[in-house]
Amino acid sequence: MIKFHNVSKIYSGDVVALRNINLDINSGEFVSIVGQSGTGKSTLLRLLILEELPTMGQILFNNRDIITFTRREIPLHRRKIGVVFQDFKLLNKRTVFENVSFALEVAGRGSRDIRQNVGQILDIVGLTDKSNKYPTQLSGGEQQRVAIARALVHHPEILAADEPTGNLDMINTWEIIELLLRINKLGTTVLLATHNKDTVDRINRRVIALDKGMVIRDQKEGKYMI
Ligand SMILES: Nc1ncnc2c1ncn2[C@@H]1O[C@H](COP(=O)(O)OP(=O)(O)O)[C@@H](O)[C@H]1O
Ligand SMILES: [Mg+2]
Repeated sequence: MIKFHNVSKIYSGDVVALRNINLDINSGEFVSIVGQSGTGKSTLLRLLILEELPTMGQILFNNRDIITFTRREIPLHRRKIGVVFQDFKLLNKRTVFENVSFALEVAGRGSRDIRQNVGQILDIVGLTDKSNKYPTQLSGGEQQRVAIARALVHHPEILAADEPTGNLDMINTWEIIELLLRINKLGTTVLLATHNKDTVDRINRRVIALDKGMVIRDQKEGKYMI
């Protein structure tokens, strides 16, 4: 599904963020991308959604080199990858429902279709009863669940979560991880970038460890280590 072939990313100022990355990620996998701050985890995800271009190498998504996507294909590609960040990036003046429905409205979907879709997704993330609340009325864990719901709204093939638990305490962290595991079970490929060792050790799924922009370990049922 995703293939990185000899991918390097050098930012301006000669910052080498990724060095010669080779990866193969299959549909349905749950992959933790771990490593200390500054090792290239976010860059890897940014390349995948074409927010940055690789300096060298190819990134294949469903057998197509994503660099060759046309201007029209790029937004379609991005819809296939839902993203969540450490800071939830919610619209504070909109309700939970509206935060999730927004992308569907922009896409021009009808209101009944939107209600049904959003209802279903809020159910998956367990926020049906918070539908009319505003983000500021929610806990951090709940806000992150809204962000996850929003990321799922186009039924993406991949959910890419960049340090989604960075602002959460231990209990909320594990709730979010369990939600990601559940979403994965429903068929979505999950990429989780994190430097949270305890979380990764409990997940017991594939772990790709980065150090200074290089893959130093790729294990099927890995631990954080380093
Ligand atoms: N837009 C940018 N311009 C220049 N350097 C950057 C940029 N984004 C990230 N970097 C650098 O690239 C390296 C990898 O960063 P990043 O991918 O954010 O790592 P991580 O997510 O693991 O913390 C770091 O040295 C960082 O300072
Ligand atoms: Mg990062």
